[in-house]
Amino acid sequence: MAKNKDSIQYVFTVAFAVCMVCAIVVATSAVVLRPLQVENKALDLKRNILASAGLMEEGKSVQELFASIETRLVNISDGQFSTDFDVDSFDAIKAVSDPKLTDPLDNATDIADIKRREKYAEVYIVRGANGDIEKVVLPIRGYGLWSTLWGFIALEKDFNTVAGLGFYSHAETPGLGGEVDNPKWKAQWPGKRILNEAGNLAIEVTKGGQADADSPYEVDGLSGATITTRGVDNLVQFWLGDNGFKPFLDHLKTGGA
Ligand SMILES: Cc1cc2nc3c(=O)[nH]c(=O)nc-3n(C[C@H](O)[C@H](O)[C@H](O)COP(=O)(O)O)c2cc1C
Repeated sequence: MAKNKDSIQYVFTVAFAVCMVCAIVVATSAVVLRPLQVENKALDLKRNILASAGLMEEGKSVQELFASIETRLVNISDGQFSTDFDVDSFDAIKAVSDPKLTDPLDNATDIADIKRREKYAEVYIVRGANGDIEKVVLPIRGYGLWSTLWGFIALEKDFNTVAGLGFYSHAETPGLGGEVDNPKWKAQWPGKRILNEAGNLAIEVTKGGQADADSPYEVDGLSGATITTRGVDNLVQFWLGDNGFKPFLDHLKTGGA
């Protein structure tokens, strides 16, 4: 029997069939690609950890380079390494938004504007041939103008000299706050010192164009992006301070690794 292609029933049947096929294609792609997305995200994180520590090498894969890095869990409050969770299965990024694994911060303390601070953080340790720590990479985050900037700061083995800093996620404006990703701006960080001779937190991101080039503590901010600049300054101060990783860094300085 010939079909009446103009009938409402026919039009609906074809439309329904097209929708079903599209839905199946989209759902299958989402399910099939999900593990790949998760893997790529993890790889990107590793790439950023290596880059912040200046460990990326031409011709070597991220996996190859990351294999020598030790991932440890740290209890941020007491600065000690922790075995409360298995570090291989611990999801440090998810933990940041888990009420059971975070503590609220009061306004005076919360200079990075993160509202709650995680109890545990993953840190990344680079050891030399003799087993001593060569570098340590710490996760950092804080609010800029439009977004939370997520990144890493790497420190040299004196735990007071910056080896590098980089952000792997933010939504600041390209060309303004987004210049935090500019290699030229990031190149200012290696060699900067965190604490001054008196042991006080002295590292600072100044307003754009106002850093003293000879200062071991000052990083020049971004011109035209004062709010992002202030955000980066605040988050660096927070994570290197008493409520961030200072207890852990003090622990490392006394050979606690
Ligand atoms: C569309 C648009 C996007 C902006 N993006 C940023 C930004 O990402 N970060 C930032 O600090 N300021 C940004 N600004 C500028 C801020 O509004 C503010 O003027 C600036 O931070 C002040 O910096 P200045 O004192 O160095 O001029 C943006 C402004 C506009 C109009």
